[in-house]
Amino acid sequence: MTISEIRRRFLDFFKSRGHAIIPSASLVPENDPSVLFTTAGMQPLVPYLLGQPHPSGKRLVNIQKCVRTGDIDEVGDNTHLTFFEMLGNWSLGDYFKEDAIKWSYELLTSKKEGFALDPERLYITVFEGNSDAPRDEESASIWKVVGIPQNRIYYMPASKNWWEAGQSGPCGPDTEMYYDITEKGLGDLAHAEFLKADEMQEVVEIWNDVFMEYLKKDGKVVGKLPQKNVDTGAGLERICAVLQKKKSVFDTDAFKPIMDFASTIASDTRARHVIADHMRAAIFLIGDGVLPSNTGQGYILRRLIRRAVFSADENKVSSREITALVEIVSGIYGDVYDNIRRRQKEIAEVISNESEQFQKTLHQGLKEFEKLETVSGKDAFTLFSTYGFPFEMTAELAEKRGRNVDRAEFEGEMRRHQELSRAGALKRFKGGLADTSEMSVKYHTATHLLHQALRDILGKEVQQKGSNITPERLRFDFAFQRKMTDDEKKKVEDVVNEKIKADLAVHKTTLPLEAAKKSGALHFFDEKYPDEVLIHYIGNSLETAYSKEFCGGPHVQSIGTLGTFRILKEEAVSAGVRRIKAILQ
Ligand code: ALA
Repeated sequence: MTISEIRRRFLDFFKSRGHAIIPSASLVPENDPSVLFTTAGMQPLVPYLLGQPHPSGKRLVNIQKCVRTGDIDEVGDNTHLTFFEMLGNWSLGDYFKEDAIKWSYELLTSKKEGFALDPERLYITVFEGNSDAPRDEESASIWKVVGIPQNRIYYMPASKNWWEAGQSGPCGPDTEMYYDITEKGLGDLAHAEFLKADEMQEVVEIWNDVFMEYLKKDGKVVGKLPQKNVDTGAGLERICAVLQKKKSVFDTDAFKPIMDFASTIASDTRARHVIADHMRAAIFLIGDGVLPSNTGQGYILRRLIRRAVFSADENKVSSREITALVEIVSGIYGDVYDNIRRRQKEIAEVISNESEQFQKTLHQGLKEFEKLETVSGKDAFTLFSTYGFPFEMTAELAEKRGRNVDRAEFEGEMRRHQELSRAGALKRFKGGLADTSEMSVKYHTATHLLHQALRDILGKEVQQKGSNITPERLRFDFAFQRKMTDDEKKKVEDVVNEKIKADLAVHKTTLPLEAAKKSGALHFFDEKYPDEVLIHYIGNSLETAYSKEFCGGPHVQSIGTLGTFRILKEEAVSAGVRRIKAILQ
């Protein structure tokens, strides 16, 4: 079954069971400071899992692009990926365990409508229970009714079968489906044997049904949600590998042309995997507006490109090669994600500039390296942090000169450095995914006012490019060609403060997509939207509103409470994109 057929079957299966197909959200989360990237299909849906009505209804299905960088250093083996696509279906306070499990089983095993997997090779895990939630005997008994024998159902602790995305937000126990990919077939497995088979990757997790009925705040379950939800996730690439009987995701049709290309620039299999994964991720990130930089999303992008360039055989990555690769990826994905095709040229340019710059740095780093008499762990760290030399590369170079590098010392330096950045990261996460703290909500509404005020003062070319909110400040990126003058900044502040003084009300309304666009509500032109969209507007009616935007909220009810709006900083983030940091006092 090809990747396109898998996509089609998944979406059709749930569509014919009353689910609305919704588009993938951007890889860059909007108004969510707690994560760098969209890491799961449920993430853009958090407000709806918490109870806000979704414009497309209570049953949703989609294929969401995701980036997870937690185990970026493990990419290279057969299974780890940074960019991947997640198949998911949702019930927002509609069906629950029974239908979710029944449909999961049906989709996996049905020859006619589904993936035609062998039911004899399925194993199931369910939640064993703890002080937050009881043992999930209900799911176990539904699986038995569906046809899974009791001795293939295993109870697991929260570390395995509890799902949440951050310290705060919707969460709950899950049930996971595993598939035996060995040639002979493993047959019945005792609990310990199953765990071993999982470790040996003889069984692989192919799908996860989460039953989200709990709410976490600051790491603790504080009660139940107003509604019971279902959130499911299956990695598309992994499903492909299982259905196409491949040991490695890189050997599936999803990767074939990319791997063929990688084999022309790298001789080693692991290096080819790194190139294929990292370049695909980089292309998708740039497609969603990320540019290389030294912080946040841009830094991850930079690391991906650098590691890919470094993995290629020497001097093999020229801008001609990069252009060819971007064309290949656009050929595979352009029909599904049209921004990749539309922005193909721009993406190739960003990657070739970045890799050229890195190749120069590498060159300088090599010169520094040649100056060293001995190579200490500290030196290796400096080469890594200043010139981007991965440890393996330094070790390899040293070895060629008959020297050793102290790995333990290098790792000590790395740890020290990581602790510093982890302290920063923890701060980021404290807000939590569902950060609806009063200040964040105020900043969100202030962001809408700022967006409109910028268009009033600077003109219609101003377009939102990104937004990031913490309880302390707002940050707003927008398309504009030059630095703002002090006078312009002052004018924007004045307009926003004048509106706050007038204490306008904030309203929301749901409209069909075409009508929503016609209403003049601001939105990202690059994005795909569902058939029904939610608009938030500030003013008495949609026609006369001061600000209107496609937006899921949350917002304050009236803006008089926002306080005084002040711009702290206006600066460039990249060519043609400016950034404003502002506070409410
Ligand atoms: N949110 C669940 C996951 O990502 C489905 O596995």
